[in-house]
Amino acid sequence: MIEFCSYKLDVPHISVKHLIKKYPSLQGNCIKTPVRRHQENDRHIRLQLEYEYTYDYTKSKNQYDITEIIVKEYFNVDNYQLLRDRLCPRINNRMAYILILESLLIEPDRILNPQQDEKECIIDIGTGSSLIYPIIANKLSYKNSLIIGTEINEVSLNNASTILNNNFHLKQNISLIRGSKDKLIPSVDSDIKVKYLICNPPFYSSKEELLSKESSKSINKPNELIINEDELLYEDNGELGFVKKLIDESIDLSTQYKFKRCWFTSQVGIHKHVEELNSYLDQKGIPYKFNETIKFNTSRWIVGWRFEPFIFRIQKYISPLILCDNKIIKKLDHLLLNLDEYFSKLRKKSHDRFEYRISRVYHNKNICYIRTNEYVWLRRIRRLIERGGEELEKQNLFNKDVLIRVYLFNDKVDINVLTTDIADKDVTIHSNSMNSLFKSFDEN
Ligand SMILES: C[S@@+](CC[C@H](N)C(=O)[O-])C[C@H]1O[C@@H](n2cnc3c(N)ncnc32)[C@H](O)[C@@H]1O
Repeated sequence: MIEFCSYKLDVPHISVKHLIKKYPSLQGNCIKTPVRRHQENDRHIRLQLEYEYTYDYTKSKNQYDITEIIVKEYFNVDNYQLLRDRLCPRINNRMAYILILESLLIEPDRILNPQQDEKECIIDIGTGSSLIYPIIANKLSYKNSLIIGTEINEVSLNNASTILNNNFHLKQNISLIRGSKDKLIPSVDSDIKVKYLICNPPFYSSKEELLSKESSKSINKPNELIINEDELLYEDNGELGFVKKLIDESIDLSTQYKFKRCWFTSQVGIHKHVEELNSYLDQKGIPYKFNETIKFNTSRWIVGWRFEPFIFRIQKYISPLILCDNKIIKKLDHLLLNLDEYFSKLRKKSHDRFEYRISRVYHNKNICYIRTNEYVWLRRIRRLIERGGEELEKQNLFNKDVLIRVYLFNDKVDINVLTTDIADKDVTIHSNSMNSLFKSFDEN
């Protein structure tokens, strides 16, 4: 049976080309390249000289200009101004951070427990002058969660409040709290549950480290030189120290009901810190961890942890680079109908011991979830069920709990497999096995 679940994740597709057309002032920030095009009329073919515009990201001024426009256009924030001496946020990688949390951690939970209807909030530690994560989360998160941003720097806090005050609809969902050095995670009202905590921590531990790293980054980009150093400095061991402090504080909060199911997360800028933080989590006895990479021009990582068991542990996340061959699957509708038909046959053959449920996400028509009690993507298992008889009875089957997320985009299929089955952690879920499953129903 295919059922629908209501979940809304509204991801803006940002087109710089479209913005340049709509905002002629941006053309001043573009590199103009002459191109010759053929123009034909009934008698002649003429060469016409035209210009193509590509946005010049190498100048920091240009980055601020386009970021302001992106936020206005795609996140409906009409009155938005960035401070020119503060960090200019890259929107795509910040969207990716929130998207990963919402779609890999929150969405599966909603699919499995659609009835949840408690008041929820998201906390952003060190929201900065741009208020960028609360603005993005306000657009991307499931339902209208309340978002709380904290900021310790007075100038940044003032600019973030100005943005809120000038945009009434944001003020309804976002609130700001003055941060403190001693306590990074703020208190929240007792009737609100914290869905997740996000953070882009200050990176550097000293002015010397900051100046040497930033100046080496900006050798070819003289305009990139930093800005206000306060927002990038945490004297107690930079980002590592900051995230460790978040971990320590989260342990004290973990017994509070409102933080029980919270995913505590942070972005990490240096890869070796991911391992160090994972070991720190182990050392502190925190069992549920989550790691993911945010890939754009430069890679960043997400480190997450939680105290309550997550109903599904992410067993294997098959990266979109090793995808199934989409020639097999033209449309999700086609895939689901065939899968449903094939699974119901398997179910009959197993004397109703094989169980499955296919859920479609109401608003995201290219995503579906399949929950099964056996690893039916493995050909060996499917053969056993199909043959039936004594051999099937002897096997210890149909005792798993697996959630498969299939996501179709353009000509690619991205598959995530989530399972609670810790004992089976070594089961490899090759995309080939998935291909074989999809092929098998296609042939049936
Ligand atoms: C790297 S910036 C991130 C800004 C913004 N979130 C972004 O992604 O562009 C780190 C921010 O954390 C703030 N910060 C540092 N210590 C803090 C604390 N104890 N409480 C709240 N914010 C803090 C800094 O002022 C700075 O704005």
